Amino acid sequence: MLNSSLTGLSRAAAGIVLMASCLTISAQPPAKSAEPAKPAEPAKALEYVGSETCKACHEEIFNNLQKTPHSAIETGARRGWDQKSCESCHGPGSKHAESASADDIKNPAKLAPGQVDRTCLQCHLNQNTPVGRLASGHAKDQVACTSCHSVHGAGGAKLVIHNKTEINQKCSTCHLTQWASFNRPYKHRLPEGAMSCVDCHNPHASFRDDTVRTAFGNEPGCLQCHSDKRGPFVYEHPVLRLEGCTACHDPHGSANPRMLTRHEVRLVCLECHANLPIPVAQPPSLGGVPPALHDLRSPRFQNCTICHTKVHGSNVDRTFFR
Ligand code: HEC
Ligand code: HEC
Ligand code: HEC
Ligand code: HEC
Ligand code: HEC
Ligand code: HEC
Ligand code: HEC
Ligand code: HEC
Ligand code: HEC
Ligand code: HEC
Repeated sequence: MLNSSLTGLSRAAAGIVLMASCLTISAQPPAKSAEPAKPAEPAKALEYVGSETCKACHEEIFNNLQKTPHSAIETGARRGWDQKSCESCHGPGSKHAESASADDIKNPAKLAPGQVDRTCLQCHLNQNTPVGRLASGHAKDQVACTSCHSVHGAGGAKLVIHNKTEINQKCSTCHLTQWASFNRPYKHRLPEGAMSCVDCHNPHASFRDDTVRTAFGNEPGCLQCHSDKRGPFVYEHPVLRLEGCTACHDPHGSANPRMLTRHEVRLVCLECHANLPIPVAQPPSLGGVPPALHDLRSPRFQNCTICHTKVHGSNVDRTFFR
């Protein structure tokens, strides 16, 4: 019984092999009978020749690379690539080393961004940091690793930029609108070089929208610096947890001294706490309607946070007075 089923299996396998070989045959282009058969030149298999060979013609590039963390490839930090770091990104170079022709070597600068990323991710896949688990618009819209990382450091460009001013310049070359926001009167001090875009954004990926960094688990990265807003509060303003800081703040810059999304505080609050005479048929206001004592025509009630001072949450008062 066991025996026969095994035979059946191997017969089925043989069938698959047969089918596969039929497919390969039928996939071949029909032979052009008119042309006389040329003796095919045996294509020489590409081989690895080692970085020393590349160095003979590209000495400056070789020397520059040794000054970057990628020198570790040459010395064997990635097993299999020692003594041939050049070819870890450029592929086997035997043909090019002979011909010295640009056509015979892979140049990432001429590849599609997705292919560049794959070249880098050979080694940078699944790193501890989100590098290699790209989930940002940068991967989706094809901004290659090399848009931000200069592998060969021409003109003093570094492999990783850490200087805040340089990071801001790099990001702003594409994100002009966001950079313009930092010209508003109240903003984080990026133009002064005290902070950079990557204090709030991870350029590679994040669990949060807009690649906003996380802090203490998956909370917004704002709390890394503004930890007093974290709570937990006995009386929470649920907005903080549910919609996050940007329900009320524009961290890129604002006309309001507290970087609120509107120039006046009450306009922010009234987005959710409208005390308009709402007809019963309409859905209730999201955050609840302030009681009738609030006469919004009176200047006394216009600055909500004069009374509701602990608007981020309070440990003693349900209505955030203290
Ligand atoms: C015999 C000298 C010589 C050797 C050896 C050599 N190259 Fe080149 N390489 C050149 C020259 C010359 C060019 C410029 C070709 C051109 O612009 O037409 C070039 C261009 C290149 C380019 C740019 C291609 C492009 O599309 O613009 C890359 C990448 C490159 N070499 C990598 C390598 C690597 C990697 C090695 C070692 C495996 C290597 N080269 C070994 C002479 C050499
Ligand atoms: C980590 C990947 C990586 C390694 C390792 C690497 N290259 Fe490159 N190379 C690139 C990329 C990416 C480019 C495209 C230009 C750029 O973005 O800097 C490039 C471009 C080049 C060019 C074209 C000229 C230029 O400067 O744009 C040459 C020549 C070259 N590489 C040679 C080498 C040699 C020689 C080595 C070994 C010493 C080497 N590369 C090692 C990634 C690499
Ligand atoms: C053959 C493997 C390999 C390839 C391919 C490779 N890298 Fe690397 N990369 C390394 C190693 C090894 C280091 C040294 C630091 C480490 O061990 O993580 C490194 C370091 C880096 C660093 C600096 C990290 C730091 O903490 O300072 C950056 C940035 C980087 N690589 C970007 C790239 C980019 C961009 C590409 C593609 C053009 C690329 N790498 C391709 C192996 C590789
Ligand atoms: C080469 C151009 C370029 C550079 C440089 C660049 N970006 Fe982007 N960025 C883009 C593109 C394209 C998108 C996708 C826009 C879209 O999806 O609508 C994007 C999207 C984003 C987003 C939106 C979130 C997302 O995942 O879609 C953020 C945040 C961002 N970039 C931050 C940065 C930061 C921080 C830097 C500097 C470290 C930077 N970018 C550098 C082109 C660039
Ligand atoms: C939009 C610009 C941008 C793109 C695209 C980008 N990086 Fe980065 N990368 C940075 C910046 C800026 C830093 C420094 C971050 C910091 O200082 O916190 C960095 C840091 C790194 C580091 C070292 C620190 C770490 O987080 O491990 C590595 C490795 C790295 N990038 C690899 C890559 C690879 C591989 C790709 C492509 C798959 C890539 N990067 C794409 C901007 C970028
Ligand atoms: C103080 C923190 C912080 C800084 C600094 C910061 N961002 Fe943002 N950014 C955010 C937050 C939070 C969002 C999400 C906005 C939202 O939810 O409406 C965002 C959204 C974005 C977006 C998505 C589109 C948009 O405008 O909403 C882009 C692109 C972006 N930032 C780029 C940048 C660039 C480029 C820099 C540096 C010049 C930068 N950011 C600096 C916090 C910051
Ligand atoms: C890297 C640290 C850092 C991060 C991350 C950060 N901030 Fe700030 N924030 C500051 C500093 C420092 C100030 C002080 C004001 C200044 O720079 O002049 C500030 C000021 C503010 C102010 C105005 C405070 C005042 O006194 O008027 C608001 C509102 C604010 N941040 C909100 C946010 C939000 C929302 C986020 C997340 C999207 C965030 N911050 C992320 C450092 C940070
Ligand atoms: C419901 C709207 C709202 C939300 C959500 C909110 N804020 Fe605020 N925030 C305000 C208002 C209003 C002020 C101004 C208070 C005042 O004028 O006294 C303020 C002020 C601030 C200030 C400066 C004054 C102070 O109290 O230190 C910082 C910093 C700040 N917020 C950070 C944050 C952070 C970080 C988050 C997210 C965790 C956040 N805010 C979420 C409404 C909000
Ligand atoms: C994004 C919507 C939103 C914004 C903006 C907002 N709130 Fe709220 N607020 C809520 C929600 C939702 C609740 C919870 C209501 C409930 O529990 O029934 C709440 C609760 C409150 C409470 C306590 C009410 C109660 O029933 O316990 C007060 C007071 C309050 N908000 C004041 C403010 C002030 C002042 C501002 C402006 C600085 C503001 N809110 C901005 C959504 C918002
Ligand atoms: C002069 C002080 C004062 C100002 C200014 C003020 N409130 Fe109030 N608010 C109160 C008092 C008092 C209560 C009632 C508290 C109670 O019932 O215990 C209240 C209650 C509320 C509640 C409902 C709390 C509940 O129990 O359901 C909301 C929502 C609210 N206010 C929003 C606002 C908004 C939005 C503004 C700005 C437009 C504002 N308040 C300005 C004093 C003020």
